[in-house]
Amino acid sequence: MKFQASTKVQIPRGTDDIMPGEVEKWQWIEQKAREICGLYDYHEIRTPVFEHTELFHRGVGEATDIVEKEMYSFTDRGNRSISLRPEGTAGVVRSFVEKKMFAQPQPTKWYYMGPMFRYENPQAGRRRQFHQFGVEAFGSVDPLLDAEVIALGMQYFKSLGLKDVRVEINTLGDAESRQQYREKLITYFEGYMDELSAEAKSRLYKNPLRILDSKDARTKEIAAGAPLLRDHLNETSRNHFDTVIRTLDLLGIPYVINPRLVRGLDYYTHTAFEYTVDISGAQAGSIGGGGRYNGLVEQFGGPEMPGVGFGIGLERVILALTEQQVKLPLAQGLDCYLITLGEEAKLVGMKVLQSMREAGLRVDRDYMDRKMKAQFKTADRLQATYVAILGEEELKRNQINVKRLATGEQETISLDQLISHIQQQR
Ligand code: HAM
Repeated sequence: MKFQASTKVQIPRGTDDIMPGEVEKWQWIEQKAREICGLYDYHEIRTPVFEHTELFHRGVGEATDIVEKEMYSFTDRGNRSISLRPEGTAGVVRSFVEKKMFAQPQPTKWYYMGPMFRYENPQAGRRRQFHQFGVEAFGSVDPLLDAEVIALGMQYFKSLGLKDVRVEINTLGDAESRQQYREKLITYFEGYMDELSAEAKSRLYKNPLRILDSKDARTKEIAAGAPLLRDHLNETSRNHFDTVIRTLDLLGIPYVINPRLVRGLDYYTHTAFEYTVDISGAQAGSIGGGGRYNGLVEQFGGPEMPGVGFGIGLERVILALTEQQVKLPLAQGLDCYLITLGEEAKLVGMKVLQSMREAGLRVDRDYMDRKMKAQFKTADRLQATYVAILGEEELKRNQINVKRLATGEQETISLDQLISHIQQQR
């Protein structure tokens, strides 16, 4: 491929630069995620952003939108088919199996954060590179663990100051219930063969559950009359779901049972849920989603080992925080801005600056040879609490002039006191 030297290279569609000024919000919401995971004893795992394409075909499912239409797949120089990860669960499960974590005492509780990639139609809250905070808990079939995962997400939203987050929840039952239900659904939809959308038709025998969340108007109408899974649950599945629901009640977590919630990935069994919050102007859908996936570890060559988790979309978290005008407690400006006058003070100023930084103060100085007045302006712009002015005269006497910008108070102190002076009154 030839590239023209003179044309500007622009950011790829559906991706974002997260700029200084904005990135502090990200750091804060990421920090909160780590804190909350610590409270619940979830530990961080970092897996590659690309994996063998086959992983997602087997994990996420051949007949899902993600695998059929949205993957960034390419052949690498070694002729392998590689894909940028469209979600986090498959890679985490691969790692769980590959590292033989199933041989360890269970449960294994992990969390992750990072970029995911889906070739989607970009809009606010729907990006081609987006970021997820996710958790995965392996090794227990206990429905209390489903409730813990849901509660963790809710505590996360609460810790951010987000209000009105709802949980929509459903059960997809175990393999046996699903199989029976699947047959019922196929029979039902076969009765409407001529009226189903082309997409629904193509899914009928591969993944009939996905027809339930079709976007096509007529298919939607037909789906509204379809049998419900909850009427076809076996006892194990019913008990599992009942306990999850009762635990949510006990924990005071608001939820709505949505019998048509099926989710866009194939690996779910039993609990499936989404976190939703209103974000105007963004056709964003849910802020997070997850569920149980009891067969996935086995599918990747591990033993029978259940799992449950969620993924939260961080772009959507930021949008919701903005929408709700949540004031984030972000670090303010500098503790001190140093102004020097004269050549010698300019150089010595470097040492003063260094000692302040080593003492843990946030400080900066001028590197543009600006006039004093302009330097004061810079200090204002950087929201400095203090300006310290080091002139030739002060330097001779081992002193420095400090001014508190908010009050205009100014005093000359010994250079040795500078750090403690600022620390005390920070
Ligand atoms: P998912 O529902 O595909 O589930 O994605 C989880 C969340 O990621 C969504 O609710 C949404 O907030 C965000 N998200 C998805 N696609 C985009 C996009 N194109 N732009 C911005 N945000 C997006 C999963 O990925 C599963 N791995 C969740 C899971 C973990 N289930 C069990 N464990």
